[in-house]
Amino acid sequence: MKKHRIGLAAVAFAVALPVLASAQAAQGFAPEAAPDVLKPAVKAADEALATLKARMTARLMQELQAGGPLRAVNVCRDEAPAIAAEISRTSGVVVGRTSHRLRNAGNQPPAWAQAAVAATAGRKAADVAPVAFALGDRVGVLRPIAMAGPCARCHGGAGEVNPETAAAIRAAYPQDQATGFAEGDLRGFAWAEARVGAALAATSTAAGPVGDPLLAKGKALFAEANPRCIMCHTVEGKGNPASVLDGVGLRLDRAEIVKWLRDPKAQAQRLGKTRKPAMVPYPEFEDAEIEALAAYIASLPKP
Ligand code: HEC
Ligand code: HEC
Repeated sequence: MKKHRIGLAAVAFAVALPVLASAQAAQGFAPEAAPDVLKPAVKAADEALATLKARMTARLMQELQAGGPLRAVNVCRDEAPAIAAEISRTSGVVVGRTSHRLRNAGNQPPAWAQAAVAATAGRKAADVAPVAFALGDRVGVLRPIAMAGPCARCHGGAGEVNPETAAAIRAAYPQDQATGFAEGDLRGFAWAEARVGAALAATSTAAGPVGDPLLAKGKALFAEANPRCIMCHTVEGKGNPASVLDGVGLRLDRAEIVKWLRDPKAQAQRLGKTRKPAMVPYPEFEDAEIEALAAYIASLPKP
């Protein structure tokens, strides 16, 4: 890739400050107590999270004021992926938001964060400490996000989300679990993965053995893709059920999948596909990488 590990869609708007040390900090470590060798990566992760938070909050507040929650739902749905991808492309840090109760099923926690997310489900945000993990060539940082006042308009209890907004949310996220939160509750986490030093080239080791080297390369690139494909698609049974790519190779040949990856806008226009959020291009992938990614996607077996 020309650039590496760019950021995922979805963003932190309300990253709580470090508070109490909690049980999960035993496996990880407090970000501010990172060993010297990891400090620059932790700092890069935190900077990317701060930028995402600032930009998402600004857009959300703008739309809430201009058009109310209904318009703001569309901003979250359509713009969050693009905003985060752009910031992450420039920062080189992969970022996302997650929760124990997801609105977008594509916001699953990364593997390294799963245990911490599960262990803190249902707590108050103030009782959950941020935590960092050493991941070999990368560092993962997980920061709690608290429910605050304006969040209730889309994540609050029955009386707090107006019926029009609730209907729009239901339509976009039929499996929504992210309502019924009260102020101060742990809404979820912002996460970031930043590279340690110059250890960039470890992508191929991230992929499991797949046999065909082209598929192995494609699988590694799939893990790198940002925003993550599973934000909007299901791959190997995981992610957003709105569009399942497992078995897509039975319908689309590699050339057609390459077109989706190279110029999704033209492809969507040509085929009249209007599902939102629209697929974003992946300009950081070179032609040979797009071919490998397409080979991997085309090889996914039907469930
Ligand atoms: C206008 C409606 C709206 C408001 C207000 C809102 N959200 Fe969301 N939220 C959404 C939508 C839509 C998504 C799914 C977008 C995506 O794919 O990340 C989402 C997703 C999230 C996620 C990602 C995890 C998941 O469930 O998919 C977190 C965390 C989150 N919101 C926290 C907050 C917090 C904290 C606030 C208040 C500062 C807030 N939200 C305000 C609509 C809203
Ligand atoms: C922000 C959302 C989003 C992301 C991220 C995304 N896609 Fe898409 N993708 C779409 C939409 C929308 C379509 C249009 C077809 C549909 O409605 O499912 C689409 C279509 C496709 C198709 C054609 C599917 C078909 O059934 O005809 C393929 C293949 C595809 N995407 C692969 C990928 C891969 C691989 C990635 C990651 C590198 C990815 N997409 C990332 C939203 C996304």
